[in-house]
Amino acid sequence: DVTWLKVCDVSAVRNQEARCLRVGEEDVAVFNLDGQFYAVADRCPHGNASLSEGWVENGEVECPLHQARFDLASGKVLCAPARDNLKTFKVKLADGVVLVCAS
Ligand code: FES
Repeated sequence: DVTWLKVCDVSAVRNQEARCLRVGEEDVAVFNLDGQFYAVADRCPHGNASLSEGWVENGEVECPLHQARFDLASGKVLCAPARDNLKTFKVKLADGVVLVCAS
């Protein structure tokens, strides 16, 4: 079964920025790229850094701690020092609200 959880208003995530939101048991970073929303695990797989505080460019986020980069659509790790991909979550928008798939 698919469970969609309301996480925030669409207007709460500014363009080219992210918010860290609690989804069930996980911290999820929700990004707004020109109105297209993406959600990935907030914690960098390399260390104790919050990717919602990273630098966003070209559909990628750069970790604020050691500058590993990840593709926001696929979660793929793009450069060292991180080696593992990010978990991604499905996102949809409805009535001005962002919903993240928790299952
Ligand atoms: Fe993210 Fe090291 S903690 S690259």
